[in-house]
Parts: sequence; structure tokens; C-alpha cells
Amino acid sequence: METLFKYGKAVYKTVDNFNELSYEIGNFGNNVLWICDTNTARMVRPLPQPNVIINTGEGSKNFTTLERILQVAIDADLNKNSTFIGLGGGVVCDITALAASIFRRGCKCLLIPTTIMAMGDACLGGKTGINFRGVKNAIGNTYEANEVLLCPEMLRSLPDREYYSGLSEIIKHALLSNSRELYQKVVLDRQKINARDLDTVSDLIRLSLETKKEVLEQNRSEILKLGHVFGTVLETMTDFNKSHGECIVWGIIRSTELGYKCGLCEKSFADNICRVFKPFKYDVDYKIPRTNWQLFKSILAKNNTYNSSNHELLILTDLGTVVSYAAEEDAIQDAVIESVVYR
Ligand SMILES: NC(=O)c1ccc[n+]([C@@H]2O[C@H](COP(=O)([O-])OP(=O)(O)OC[C@H]3O[C@@H](n4cnc5c(N)ncnc54)[C@H](O)[C@@H]3O)[C@@H](O)[C@H]2O)c1
Repeated sequence: METLFKYGKAVYKTVDNFNELSYEIGNFGNNVLWICDTNTARMVRPLPQPNVIINTGEGSKNFTTLERILQVAIDADLNKNSTFIGLGGGVVCDITALAASIFRRGCKCLLIPTTIMAMGDACLGGKTGINFRGVKNAIGNTYEANEVLLCPEMLRSLPDREYYSGLSEIIKHALLSNSRELYQKVVLDRQKINARDLDTVSDLIRLSLETKKEVLEQNRSEILKLGHVFGTVLETMTDFNKSHGECIVWGIIRSTELGYKCGLCEKSFADNICRVFKPFKYDVDYKIPRTNWQLFKSILAKNNTYNSSNHELLILTDLGTVVSYAAEEDAIQDAVIESVVYR
């Protein structure tokens, strides 16, 4: 086991394989509550009692699940010194940390993220949350875990859709980083990344967390929303059939294209951003059908600060450099809608 770094009160540790993880789990003691989803519950056998197994997916991030966790904790006589252990993706980690933050006014929290999204992004920063009345993460707070235990070997069983969705956040961090190390790894090791080579993926996760940590410590957290303005519109338009990560990638690519068309960056830079994502099976050329422009515009207006014709967007103008830009509707249409081809 290796300690990677500390962020706030949280210690980030990594283990090489399941055997080491299993050894660590043996040290957790009895005063704990396990929280998993129906997939991740199968990873620890037998799963110690008490435990709460929630349904998979975003639909579980709600008050009913939160109450169930608190109910089991009370019934098991757990106290302030108890540890809630979240074993799972971002859904399990977000709700475990929220439950830990309010149980007995705050008990201990240990996260074992099992998706690349949770390992490379969600486990750092202490954001907790559940969805409420259709609003994502409407209820939550900031509560750093005491410990985060990373075991990249767990990613072997992750479905492709989840793997590439989470990978998108790591590539986003590579574009935001002031150091070139993560970026170069993404560009040079693409075959190993697609093959899920464990050493390569472990390095990506470490570098991704280090980048996010640096961004948070520099109070630049708003840049982590790169790609979200267009990406969340696409998510809604496609009825959440495309993964969150795919949509964010699309948002980054289209907003960089817009940046080039508005003179904020070179065309070669915008083309290069496409080339960074392309080897990872993202549909970098996708554009919204012309007939859906009104729908796109109405969702955009609902999601964002709307000042009649301009939308505030984050635009990547160079590696590590993001500017906020009020884009006009014509420019947005040009960047996101398929062009008419005259024959
Ligand atoms: N707190 C934060 O800073 C932060 C950041 C990013 C995302 N999030 C949150 O994270 C959530 C998304 O997280 P996610 O992408 O990890 O999704 P998820 O937690 O829903 O997991 C995706 C799927 O993968 C399955 N799974 C998990 N680990 C597996 C493994 N090792 N092998 C096989 N299957 C496995 C899960 O059971 C689930 O079906 C969202 O709710 C989002 O709001 C939070």
C-alpha cells in the first residue's frame, strides 16, 4: 500500500491488487457500516454486517436511500466514532459521504471508489449529494472523507460505457493541467489506456487527482465545468442515453471549435483537441441536426444564465488556459449544428 497525498483531512492511498485491498479491509474493525450498490456488493464476499445495498444508478441518489442508510446505522447502534465505508462509483461515494456528514453530526467516512469516474474525479473535493425534485445534486454539502483507498484492479470489470465516461474526466483534467505530464500520457499511451493496462491507468488516476487537487487549492474550481454548458444540453436532448462523459467530451470539442471561430484560439489547437479524444471512441464529429436547433436553444436558455442573445461559456484557448466568453447565438449555432451541404 502506498500513500499518494493528503487533501484536507483525507488521506489518499493506493493498493496494487485485490489481495492488498482485502488485507486493508481486514484492518477496518467492527465499528463500520458498509454501503454498496448491487454490483459492487459482489466485490467483497462475504460483505460484513451491518450493510446497506442500494440499487445501481442515479435513481438511488435520493432521500429514501439516505434515510435507509441512517436507519441501519441507528439500528446497529453506530456512533460518532463509527466509519461509513462507501464501496462503489460516484453514486455510492456521494451518498455515503452525505450520510456520514449528518449521522450523529458527522461520523468517519472511508471511500473505496470502484469506477474510473469515482477514482479519478469524484473521490476528491468532498462534494456530497442526492438529487431532489429532478434537480441533480440539489441537496448536499462538502464533507471530506477521512481516507480514500484506490484499487485500480477493480476497473477490470467495469463496462466500456462507464470506463469511457469516467476517462473523459481524466482527459479533461489533462487539458486543464498546467503540467504536461498527464496530457502526454493520454496522447502517448492511448493503446495502453484502451487496453486498460493497470500501470498506465493507475498513473492516469494519480495524475488526474493531483491536477484536480491543484485546481481546488488554487481556487480555480469553476474551470472543472469545462464542456458542461453544451454537454448538459446534449445530455437532456438525448434523454440521458449518451453517458455524461460522452456529452462532456462533445461539449469540450464544440466549445473549442466555437473558440477558434470567435478568434480565441488557433484552428490547429481546436483540431488537436479533437485528435486527443478521437482514439477513445468518442464521436468527435457529431453535430446536432439542424431541425433540433430550437430545442437546443430552449434547453440552453433554461440551463444557463441567459441574457437575451449571449451565453456565458468556458473556452479552452490553450492547454491549462480557460477563458469565460459570452457567445452570441449565431456563433453557437455554427459550432453545434450540422452545416447544410450544398451540392
Ligand atoms: N462528488 C463529486 O465531486 C463528483 C464528481 C463527479 C461525479 N459525481 C457523481 O458521480 C455519479 C456518477 O458516478 P459513476 O460514473 O461512478 O456512476 P455509478 O456510481 O452510477 O456507477 C456506474 C455503474 O458501474 C457499476 N460499477 C461500479 N463499479 C464497478 C466495477 N468495478 N465493475 C463493474 N461495475 C461497476 C455501478 O454498479 C453502476 O451500475 C453522479 O451521481 C455524479 O453526480 C460526483
